Amino acid sequence: MNHTCNSNQEKLILAIETSCDETSVAVVRGGKHIVSNVVSSQIDIHERFGGVVPEIASRKHVESITLIIEQALKESGHELRDMSAVAVTQGPGLVGALLVGIVAAKSLALALDIPLIGTHHIAGHIYANELVHELRYPCLALVVSGGHTELVLLESEGSFRLIGRTRDDAVGEAYDKVARALKLPYPGGPHIDRLASEAETAIELPRAWLEEGSYDFSFSGLKSAVLAVINQTRMKGLDLDEAALARGFQESVIDVLTTKSLRAAKAYGAKQLLLCGGVAANRGLRAALAARCEEAGLPLLIPPGKLCTDNAAMIGAAAHLKLKRGIYSDLELKADPGLSLEQWSV
Ligand code: KG4
Ligand code: ZN
Repeated sequence: MNHTCNSNQEKLILAIETSCDETSVAVVRGGKHIVSNVVSSQIDIHERFGGVVPEIASRKHVESITLIIEQALKESGHELRDMSAVAVTQGPGLVGALLVGIVAAKSLALALDIPLIGTHHIAGHIYANELVHELRYPCLALVVSGGHTELVLLESEGSFRLIGRTRDDAVGEAYDKVARALKLPYPGGPHIDRLASEAETAIELPRAWLEEGSYDFSFSGLKSAVLAVINQTRMKGLDLDEAALARGFQESVIDVLTTKSLRAAKAYGAKQLLLCGGVAANRGLRAALAARCEEAGLPLLIPPGKLCTDNAAMIGAAAHLKLKRGIYSDLELKADPGLSLEQWSV
């Protein structure tokens, strides 16, 4: 192999993501270029249960993982022997679901005699941005997904410092619960987003600012306030203006997320604000953040929609941080549903 092929910018990672209800495999070059990224969603299977059923998720991953690996390789135009490393989501996530990806990744690493890189799912969501933009440090990431709501400071490449997190529900979880109360299909986020955009008025709902100076979040009080409006309207036999309720809920969420993100970005001298995770698809949030960032002269980075939701390309992007520093996992790697992001720092 010649020098250019060997350089870090040319190295290919085969990445596997099975932490929740998406089976995904990608081939990523140099941590920045997507060669292929196949995502097989189980949403239609879990929809009828109104949420992800862990046992079903694991079984579906087992059924599809081999085919998805084959498909990702085929679409990449490469062969297994071209890969420099195998990356896999180690956590956080559903333990049984993570295990399926980990077993597949270990087998490949062993058979091909290449390094294995256990990767943090949230580092993946953050580094999805690197697949489309150049990152400048220090930067601040607002991670909003079905399981996470976090403000993460990156003082330098691959260093993660948690400066705020939700104390109860994640934003996506709150969206899904509110949607469920309004009898909308799972996952509810996009439905609430659409309803909110159609509303002519908004039902005013509380904002959880928490203690002065705190970058933490709380959404369970807001969720209860929404449920209270639904129940009171029903008890009074009145018609519920669902769109106005969705808009009131969304405005409260967006107000708190944008205000705290902008305040933290200023306090820590962030050069960029990165928005990531499934809820980054929310049109109201994207528009509000864009307006606030423009006002503050702060560049806002948001990956395209298909890189915001769970996918393996983002895992390949984060794993490259370790590959280029020669930091590998051993074959004893275990699924870790509570894996710490700060400790995963390079
Ligand atoms: O990151 P993700 O794909 O999976 C996790 O790692 O959790 O995020 C899924 C979450 C779901 O809760 C879904 O309702 C929410 O993202 N979501 C949205 C929108 N699209 C997806 N929430 C609000 N507005 C949207 N447009
Ligand atoms: Zn995720």
